[in-house]
Amino acid sequence: MAKTLGIGMVGSGFMGRCHTNAYSSVAGIFEIPFIPQLKVLADATPDLADAAARALQFERGTSDWIDLVRDESVELVDITAPNHLHHPIAMAAMAEGKPVYCEKPLACTLEEAREMCDTAEKKGIPTLVGYNYLQNPLMKTAKSILDSGEIGEPVAFRGVHAEDYMADPKAPYSTRLDASQGGGVFYDLGSHIISLARYLVGSIDQIFAMQTTVHSSRPKQPGSESMESVSVDDQTHSLVQFENGCRGSLEASWVAWGRKMHLSFELNCSKGTLVFNQERFNELRLYEANQRPGRDGFKTLESGPAHGDYARFCPAPGHQIGFNELKVIELVELLKAIHGKTACWPDFREAYEIQKILEAARRSSADSTWCSPAQMEAS
Ligand SMILES: NC(=O)c1ccc[n+]([C@@H]2O[C@H](COP(=O)([O-])OP(=O)(O)OC[C@H]3O[C@@H](n4cnc5c(N)ncnc54)[C@H](O)[C@@H]3O)[C@@H](O)[C@H]2O)c1
Repeated sequence: MAKTLGIGMVGSGFMGRCHTNAYSSVAGIFEIPFIPQLKVLADATPDLADAAARALQFERGTSDWIDLVRDESVELVDITAPNHLHHPIAMAAMAEGKPVYCEKPLACTLEEAREMCDTAEKKGIPTLVGYNYLQNPLMKTAKSILDSGEIGEPVAFRGVHAEDYMADPKAPYSTRLDASQGGGVFYDLGSHIISLARYLVGSIDQIFAMQTTVHSSRPKQPGSESMESVSVDDQTHSLVQFENGCRGSLEASWVAWGRKMHLSFELNCSKGTLVFNQERFNELRLYEANQRPGRDGFKTLESGPAHGDYARFCPAPGHQIGFNELKVIELVELLKAIHGKTACWPDFREAYEIQKILEAARRSSADSTWCSPAQMEAS
């Protein structure tokens, strides 16, 4: 009999449904050490929790996440609730010695993030943070192209994460616009492009950021005349220097009309270039220097069984995998780490490093100066 792992999940919105899909399908796709068992689902009210538990096929619902964390049948605590709940739930789970799967960004403040990271490391608790775009099989291909040296050393990274879900000034206020709750577009979207920049190029040494609030007030509720003021960034533009000498820029915007999931980068290296856009995430574009004159150009690598875990989902190239598959791959990382009591990636440590860059950008923008993420650790 395969071993089981009891799942307790807090939140049943966009990410809660996506994580549930991963729990429900993973055993048929990968050989995994545990079969996930959907035990307890917590949501904000008893009605929401019960309805979501029924819909997502958890054994029971609760409106009290502490009850979930302490339930003996829960062996993995999964946090898909809003950002301000990540820290208290993760800390409670780790106090029980339970592994934590947490959505990004890790926490609302650097202090919270550091405490989560320190606690996980001190207790040796496996953790995983939902920077799911890192799990794209073609990102592993991009990384192996870079590591092999075939296109030389990174020279410039231009990274953007642009969407338009807050472009309409009538888009209502939400916790995503509350600075004390990890709000602002650099936290929400910029954290993803930072995760890719760190994976592909390396540590960021310095950042100079300009953060702008485009819509300084938003309706309190959908359609409401009453307005709430907003101070977080609707867009961030930044210059960055990587420790290895590569230079670049990182941008995030949720007011970029027409952009739906423009998580994209161009990485120029000394002997070639890589180009990627999440809106076409089964494609990686590669340019290699020294091609035949008049015949040179980018080629497009279509994702297929030769790339990472693609073959788990589909034996044929070019048929494409989707966003939800990235969460399945992410979950496998965590299940293996829990089984082997090994480190997992991207874990709380990596998410803390990303958060230092988010905070350095805030400081840089406020003080109009270059800022070092490493110094954020000391403050
Ligand atoms: N990795 C990604 O690509 C990605 C994408 C979207 C969101 N996220 C992250 O996932 C998290 C959730 O975002 P979402 O888009 O799923 O939000 P959502 O609003 O769709 O879902 C949040 C859920 O949490 C529940 N909730 C709120 N307060 C609660 C409480 N006190 N106790 C229990 N449940 C509570 C809500 O009722 C809802 O079910 C955020 O941290 C966000 O940054 C990550």
